[in-house]
Amino acid sequence: MNILLIGGGGREHAIASAVKRSGGNLYSYMENRNPGIIRLSDDFLISSNLNDVLKWKYVADGKIDFAIVGPEAPLEQGIVNSLENIGILSASPSKEAAQIETSKKFMRNLMEKYSIPGNVESHYFSDEEEIIRFMKDFDRPFAVKPVGLTGGKGVRVQGDHFQSKEEGIRYAIEVIRSGIGEGKGVLIEERMLGEEYTLQAFTDGNNLIPMPLVQDFKRALEDDKGPNTGGMGSYSMADHRLPFIDEQSFEKSVEILRMIVHSLKREGITYKGTIYGQFMLTKYGPKVIEINARFGDPEAINVLTIFEGDFLKIIEGMATGNLSVKYSRFSNDSTVVKYLVPEGYGTNPAHGMEIVVDESGIERSGAIIYFGSVNERNGKYYTTHSRTIAIVGRHMDLYTAEEIAENATKFVTGRLYHRRDIGKRETIEKKVRRMEEILKDP
Ligand SMILES: Nc1ncnc2c1ncn2[C@@H]1O[C@H](COP(=O)(O)OP(=O)(O)O)[C@@H](O)[C@H]1O
Ligand SMILES: [Mg+2]
Repeated sequence: MNILLIGGGGREHAIASAVKRSGGNLYSYMENRNPGIIRLSDDFLISSNLNDVLKWKYVADGKIDFAIVGPEAPLEQGIVNSLENIGILSASPSKEAAQIETSKKFMRNLMEKYSIPGNVESHYFSDEEEIIRFMKDFDRPFAVKPVGLTGGKGVRVQGDHFQSKEEGIRYAIEVIRSGIGEGKGVLIEERMLGEEYTLQAFTDGNNLIPMPLVQDFKRALEDDKGPNTGGMGSYSMADHRLPFIDEQSFEKSVEILRMIVHSLKREGITYKGTIYGQFMLTKYGPKVIEINARFGDPEAINVLTIFEGDFLKIIEGMATGNLSVKYSRFSNDSTVVKYLVPEGYGTNPAHGMEIVVDESGIERSGAIIYFGSVNERNGKYYTTHSRTIAIVGRHMDLYTAEEIAENATKFVTGRLYHRRDIGKRETIEKKVRRMEEILKDP
């Protein structure tokens, strides 16, 4: 089976590896020369123009069986629609289906219209006068959320990124004036309190198969300080749950994703591919923070590292509407992902810096490496503006998995930084205690 993969980061390296493990041929399109993906590919195309994919010989000559898209931007550009027009089906959503991610307003409206549980009070604005008028009588903590894509860097939450109501209003106005989030306007949402978790699922628009839960760490610095990033690392547990999520909340979260996919169907939109729910467990139960139309990065790395089913059958099932649970299996191992990122990542990353990777050292130490936004030139590796290398530890015991990952970070040298606290006992126990306090708070 010939698979076309779009994207050149750590998530896509993990997808590439799953395709190869299940015996597929891999044809990869990326903007940077990702050495991990290139090594696994039967052929690859480097270009910063997505339209070049459609002209690539394997695509144009009909050699590709199915496509899978890693990042959100090509989904929004409608690459799945363009491929379908020339007869290639994808295990990723169309432009219309991807609106569940590319418009936070579309997502909230859909949840409202179909009374899907887990929705959050949310108000849409495209005019600054309206914001000022509305906020006069609004006296609860809130979050300011650009409607469109911002690469995980646009949302600001009261008490966290800003303190006073006035500061929040000022930012909401800035979002409109500067067109932050693709100029699609801004949402003001009630602020939720709780612990966040990720639930990803495979779907063909009808059937839905949940993957193991993952917790991701968005803040740049240890102890959840510093600016938001695309994600500094993540962990998953051997039982595919998280220590602070009860079974009922897990089941509810799966049901919410299922209802979203089925509601889209009723709107005439078939959602195919991985759907990603970013949830927060609050004292009112699971709440939807946002929905993504693809695997998470790093969360893809956690789940695909332990995927032991038939990935090609899963891709085919999603793309053709015949998804079957019998091809999905995840091993009972815990995983810890630590992203090594350029120093200053989140504000002013040290890009274009050479890094040295001792891959055999990593392998001997029992860890796994996935290349992120690395550029290869003349056999040397350089950082870009984004996350550089993901190191994964995998073990039945979570804390052993953490040690494996942490220990292997020393085999990569250069102007890089990573969070030591991800997957550590203290970090997780703190989250469990915080959840207990939120749940018992009257
Ligand atoms: N209504 C909300 N209440 C509290 N925190 C929120 C709320 N909405 C978003 N956040 C916080 O902001 C982060 C980013 O918001 P999200 O909707 O996921 O946007 P994006 O990932 O596109 O930046 C979330 O991970 C969460 O921590
Ligand atoms: Mg998010």
